[in-house]
Amino acid sequence: MNRLDGKVALISGAARGIGGEAARLMAAAGARVVIGDVLHDRARQTVAAITAAGGDAAFAPLDVTQETAWTAAIGLAVSRYGRLDILVNNAGVFIGKGIEEISLAEWDRLVAVNMTGVFLGTRLAAPALRDAARSSPHGSVIVNLASIAGIVGSQLDPLYSMTKGGVTLFTKSTALEFARKGYRIRANSIHPGVIDTDMGEQTFVSRAQRTGSNDTAPLRQAFAGSVPSGRLGLPIDIANGIVFLASDDSAYMNGAGLVVDGGVTAA
Ligand SMILES: NC(=O)c1ccc[n+]([C@@H]2O[C@H](COP(=O)([O-])OP(=O)(O)OC[C@H]3O[C@@H](n4cnc5c(N)ncnc54)[C@H](O)[C@@H]3O)[C@@H](O)[C@H]2O)c1
Repeated sequence: MNRLDGKVALISGAARGIGGEAARLMAAAGARVVIGDVLHDRARQTVAAITAAGGDAAFAPLDVTQETAWTAAIGLAVSRYGRLDILVNNAGVFIGKGIEEISLAEWDRLVAVNMTGVFLGTRLAAPALRDAARSSPHGSVIVNLASIAGIVGSQLDPLYSMTKGGVTLFTKSTALEFARKGYRIRANSIHPGVIDTDMGEQTFVSRAQRTGSNDTAPLRQAFAGSVPSGRLGLPIDIANGIVFLASDDSAYMNGAGLVVDGGVTAA
């Protein structure tokens, strides 16, 4: 199940964290994976780990806010592996400041990475995804990393929440537009709860700073206790969902959102 044999994927922000784990899992499921990131050394290490485990991966320098970088990364996937079946718009940033504390420059950065990056990836990958869909029984796929903060409000980072709400609805609109055009490209979003990555830790640093402390350990413990499933999420929890959405097992999902949050938004 969830096999990706013969598929080619491009994952933005895949040097580490959720994207890195998704790249590893996709390669293990048989996909050839292009890892795009601004962290060049870390991305090369992720490629090396996948290759050492018998997978096939390549690094593309990619700042998702830059059109030319997207064109080059998509070009690398097609020239090296012959096609592009899967785009995972995973790169994202979190600021962790309130409406009255965040600067305009920080807001611009959030929008550039979390929204412009998703728009550019979707627009520029569409022709290659459409070409690959012609020879694929269930077509091609876009998976967008939204967040539970794109479904319910966030006290911690209201502006991050605005960008992820945008990604949530853009995913649905992408599904509708590409279906209307007959492209056979599905688009779905995934909505993680708090996941134990560098960004996850950043959320606890923001919480700690509000109490005038630098110690995140008690906050992590308290938060984990408040999650119905009793723990923080792990990158593999989200990577499993991404691989499902990227595979033909989710062939009839389109414009949908998959919530993977240990039950946080069930209440
Ligand atoms: N960790 C969480 O709790 C959580 C929760 C909900 C949603 N998410 C979302 O999941 C995605 C992955 O988050 P993560 O936790 O792995 O974060 P992370 O910070 O560990 O990794 C993010 C990756 O994106 C890359 N990146 C940042 N800006 C970039 C740019 N301009 N161009 C290319 N790459 C860039 C970083 O270098 C990094 O490798 C993000 O979209 C995030 O918003 C995370």
